[in-house]
Amino acid sequence: MDRSFCTAEKVWTNVKLATMDPEVKAVYGLLDRHAIGVLDGRITLLKPMGSFNIDEVAAEVIDAGGMCMTPGLIDSHTHLIYGGQRTAEFSRRQEGASYAEIACEGGGILSTVRATRALSEAELVEQARPRLEALLAEGVTTVEVKSGYGLTVKDELKMLRAVRTLATDFPVRLRSTLLAAHALPPEYSGRTDAYIELICNELIPQVAQLGLAEAVDVFCEPIAFSLTQCERVFTAAQAAGLGIKAHVEQLSNSQGAALAAQYAAWSVDHLEYLDEAGIAALKDSGTVATLLPGAFYFLGETRQPPVDALRQAQVPLAVASDLNPGSSPLASLRLMMNMAAVLFGLTPEEALQGTTCHAAVALGLGEEVGMLKVGMAADMLLWEIDDPAQLTCEFGVNRLQQRIFAGKVQDA
Ligand code: NIG
Ligand code: FE
Repeated sequence: MDRSFCTAEKVWTNVKLATMDPEVKAVYGLLDRHAIGVLDGRITLLKPMGSFNIDEVAAEVIDAGGMCMTPGLIDSHTHLIYGGQRTAEFSRRQEGASYAEIACEGGGILSTVRATRALSEAELVEQARPRLEALLAEGVTTVEVKSGYGLTVKDELKMLRAVRTLATDFPVRLRSTLLAAHALPPEYSGRTDAYIELICNELIPQVAQLGLAEAVDVFCEPIAFSLTQCERVFTAAQAAGLGIKAHVEQLSNSQGAALAAQYAAWSVDHLEYLDEAGIAALKDSGTVATLLPGAFYFLGETRQPPVDALRQAQVPLAVASDLNPGSSPLASLRLMMNMAAVLFGLTPEEALQGTTCHAAVALGLGEEVGMLKVGMAADMLLWEIDDPAQLTCEFGVNRLQQRIFAGKVQDA
């Protein structure tokens, strides 16, 4: 085909676009009766029906018949790669043991560390495959994946390589995050600062040099790492040119969110114990507040993240699965949207922003994905729904008609 006459190679006509673009002044950035076109993996055309001559764009035309289109969903916080399961721990928790108690006995994250160390890179990829497939089937097109179950240079690199391998096998954007500061490995018992040195002086520079991660994350909590130790990791991440993310204020208030905001973190995640000072630090910082309702629900937490105060401070909210074997073995971002609304009080619009435009910013991808806008990557979902609120309200029914990744229609 002679591309010189094309503005798009494929155009969907008669679509209701939930653009999620804040410049479109309507709920969901909604544009009814529009056409959207793609060329070379990007959105190149976005116009009202009747405002252009479809023959002139010389493209394949798909009549969407009034169906709704959203950006591809973005799961901005997962621990998708891990070995084994923690079902025995779940049974123990059902009998009364707490997550922190199990962690202090050497179970919890460390039991997954043992299982992960025992597997090869290829085995880790195999175990992660069905979890990733579950996310993709419901419309996820970008997934962040953390390391953090290796805790040695060799095993952390193995996890990050597994992410890169998985990315070549599936139509999805995977973003990797180094989470070596997840738990203290047993061989460093009593020598936490030495482990932080290993992270800062060896792991972060190697990972940056090999291009194996886009960001660095920490678990800032009395059962994990102190504020001072996290700050050392942030400094090293910044020096290596990597983005910063942080697990903070999940089980207690350690003031980790305020520290991360000072380091221009992409996101701070969990936040049930976030206080006023933390909210003030996040205000106008550009750091996204990521809510993880799956972990709140699965651990039977009762303390709510301060959603209303975050909203008042206009801190952008993301919603993610935190998919992991211990605190959120729940491979569904749609379920998280529903939970974020029901458990935390988000509106359906906020829940969808949390898994599109705000989730993109939480991954340093705000200019690339998360909105239907000319110039953005053409990751788009066509749904047989009238109102985008249905994506948050309803769960378990998949009304996805087409999953479009980088402009290519996938089998839904
Ligand atoms: O985000 N909080 C720390 N890390 C995970 C839990 C990981 C695990 O229990 O294996 C979380 O909840
Ligand atoms: Fe997490």
